[in-house]
Amino acid sequence: MFKRLPDDKRPTIALSIDGKTIEAREGDSVAAALLAAGVMVARTTPVSETPRAPYCMMGVCFDCLMEIDGIGSRQACLVPVRAGMVVRTQHGARKL
Ligand code: FES
Repeated sequence: MFKRLPDDKRPTIALSIDGKTIEAREGDSVAAALLAAGVMVARTTPVSETPRAPYCMMGVCFDCLMEIDGIGSRQACLVPVRAGMVVRTQHGARKL
């Protein structure tokens, strides 16, 4: 669905999403890397378990909440990627 611009020459890095290694570009947010990799679900809602995807990409909608490096409910659109980062889809409310 989403494609990178063909002249994007930024270095690539690898991170893990739900145990699968994906490629991102330096400067991507986790949400941008997720969408570029074709992953369309960031979380499910706590009550109805409805899948949600990043929407606003600027920290307003909270549909991008994910577990990033072991910390739940982080806004994936506001967190820059880092090599070796471990990201998981968040199912329901975060674990305390
Ligand atoms: S995509 Fe809306 S807050 Fe992250």
